[in-house]
Amino acid sequence: MPFPKSAKAYLEAVRNYEPGKPIEEVEREYGLKHAVKMASNENALGPSPKAVAAVRKALSKIHRYPDGGSFYLRQKLARKLGVSPESLIFGNGSDELLVFAARAFAGASDEVVIADPTFLIYEIASLAENARVIKVPMRDFHYDLDAMRAKIGPKTKLVFIANPDNPVGTYVPEKALAQFLSGVPEGVLVVLDEAYYEFARAKKDYPDSLGLLRRFPNLFVTRTFSKAYGLSGLRIGYGVGAPSLVGALGKVREPFNVNLLAQAAAAAALDDKAHLARTLRLVAGGRAYLRNECRKMGIFTVDTVTNFVLADLGRPARPVYEGLLKRGVIVRPMNAWGLGTFLRITVGKPAENKRLVKELRAILERSAQ
Ligand SMILES: Cc1ncc(COP(=O)(O)O)c(C=O)c1O
Repeated sequence: MPFPKSAKAYLEAVRNYEPGKPIEEVEREYGLKHAVKMASNENALGPSPKAVAAVRKALSKIHRYPDGGSFYLRQKLARKLGVSPESLIFGNGSDELLVFAARAFAGASDEVVIADPTFLIYEIASLAENARVIKVPMRDFHYDLDAMRAKIGPKTKLVFIANPDNPVGTYVPEKALAQFLSGVPEGVLVVLDEAYYEFARAKKDYPDSLGLLRRFPNLFVTRTFSKAYGLSGLRIGYGVGAPSLVGALGKVREPFNVNLLAQAAAAAALDDKAHLARTLRLVAGGRAYLRNECRKMGIFTVDTVTNFVLADLGRPARPVYEGLLKRGVIVRPMNAWGLGTFLRITVGKPAENKRLVKELRAILERSAQ
C-alpha cells in the first residue's frame, strides 16, 4: 500500500505495533477449542471481582461522558500513594502517558535515549514525533545506565527506563537509579515506566520511585491497572510527577481520554487487596515453575521479577512459537526485538503453565529426533 503523499513523510518509517493474535482467531485458524494466551503479560487470574461489580454498576451511566478529571479515582489514589491530586495524570492505558511524554517533550531533531531491548512503544512514540532514538544495548540483560548517561547530549529531551523492563524482566535497583538521575541534566525528562511495579516492589532494593520524585523534578513515574490489577481490556494507567510537569503533559491529553468504566473499575480494584495478593502468589509460583522446567529442558531464562519469563531456546524460536500455536498455546516470539532465538512467556494459571511445558517439551523432543 503506498504511503499517502500528504501525510507527514517521516511517519512512513515508523513501525506499526504488531499485536498478538486474538485467542478466538487462533482457535478458528487451527481448529482448536481451548487455546491459552500467555503472550501479552496479562493477569491470568482475571479481573478483581470488586472491579467487575463496579463496572456492572457503572454500565447504566455510559450515556454520559466520563469524568474528564477522574475526580474520585484521583482522590483515592492520591491518598493511597501519599501524593497531591495535582501530581497525578491518568491515561488510556499507561501507553498513552508514554505517548504524552514523547508528544510534549520530543520534536524534530531532538534525541530520546532508550535501552535495547525494551518496550517498543518508547521508540514508536518518539519516532512519531520525528525525534531521533538512541538505543543503548543492555549488558547481560540489565540496563547499562553508565552507557545511557554517556549518550545524553544537548539534544536529548527524554530517557525512558522500564523498571522492570519488558521483555527482559530485570530491574534497576534504587542506588543505581538514584546515581543515574543525579547525573541527568535537569532539562531531560526521565520517564520511569513501572508497569510491573506490583510484582517487583517486594525486592528490598527496588526503587522507592515516589521518594525519588521529591529529589528529581525531571522524573515522571508511570504505572498501570493492566497487569497486577487485571484490567488490560479497559485501558487505564496513571502517571506521577511534579504538578508543573503533569500540567505540561495535560496539554496534549484529550479531555475524556479515560473512559467511565475504567475509572470505576480502577477505583474498586485499588480496594481489592485479596485479589492483588492472590495474583502475586500465582505469579511467583508460576514463574518459579516455568523457570525450573525450562532449566530442566536446557533452556536459559532471565531472572525475572515480572509476570513473564524471557526464554532463550538457543535456536530459531519462530518455528517453536508456531508449533505451540498449533497446539493451542500462544506465546510471544521476540523477533520484533531482534531476539530471534527467544520466546516471552506470560505466567499463566498452574494448568496453563503445565500445558505450555508439556507442549514445549514435545516440540523440542520431536525436533531432536
Ligand atoms: C513496560 C511496559 N510499559 C507499559 C505497558 C503498557 O501497559 P498499558 O498501556 O496496558 O498500561 C506495558 C504493557 O505491556 C509494558 O510492558
